[in-house]
Amino acid sequence: MKFIHVTDPHIVKPGKTLFGLDVHERLAKCIESINANHADAEFCIWTGDIVHWGDHESYHHFRDAVSALGMPSHLVMGNHDKRESLLDVFPDTPVDANGFVQYALDVSEGRFLILDTVQAGTHSGELCDARLDWLEAQLAEASDRSVYIFMHHPPMRVGMAGMDSMRLAGVDRFVEAVTGCDNIQHLFCGHLHRPIHGSWRGIPFSTLRATSHAFKLSLGPDYELVTTKENPGYAVVLVKDGATVIHDHSYLEEGPEFEYKRKSKDSA
Ligand SMILES: [Fe+2]
Repeated sequence: MKFIHVTDPHIVKPGKTLFGLDVHERLAKCIESINANHADAEFCIWTGDIVHWGDHESYHHFRDAVSALGMPSHLVMGNHDKRESLLDVFPDTPVDANGFVQYALDVSEGRFLILDTVQAGTHSGELCDARLDWLEAQLAEASDRSVYIFMHHPPMRVGMAGMDSMRLAGVDRFVEAVTGCDNIQHLFCGHLHRPIHGSWRGIPFSTLRATSHAFKLSLGPDYELVTTKENPGYAVVLVKDGATVIHDHSYLEEGPEFEYKRKSKDSA
């Protein structure tokens, strides 16, 4: 199966920019690129920070924009999102028994679990006992089916102190829940606004460029967040026979195409 991962569009009110960036145009170009090149994807998953200020008007604008996408969209909550506003504008978004935006998508290659890591009043994330109970029940129900987890806040440190301080807080019980589940194939995150891949506790993870702003790549304990206007991106994910393949695509600047001709064995 093929699906699209997009993150952190940070949509603002129509006519407004964010940090001088036209986030609406960046989103529109993203949708245009997906439609033109990946119309065969089953759906698109947006891993949070759908809007920047949590207001209804921005969600309405996002809804109008993604109505042009030729596939369903599944939304994940981010720290800039407001649960009530998101659910008002997207009333079909599933919630768990406690009202958190957590749900399962059963697909041909396994079970996709969407987690709600938002902690009101802070940019850090959390998974309270109620949300972790839900996760544990879903993992048990998935049995030996492959599981793919989607969550805005990454549970791991990535070496960017400014973002590490805003990762998922209190990860101990999350670690307990996922440790030993050898059917968890991949963890897809948002929040970091950078393309970062690796593994954590034996689980492969990835996050990607936002469609909005980026944070400068600078590592170390003294790193403070610096916002940049790097090119945005989205990811095309192929899942088949236990393999997860992720193509990062920087859709605004693909570079000119040219014909590749090898003149002789010795020249490239
Ligand atoms: Fe964000």
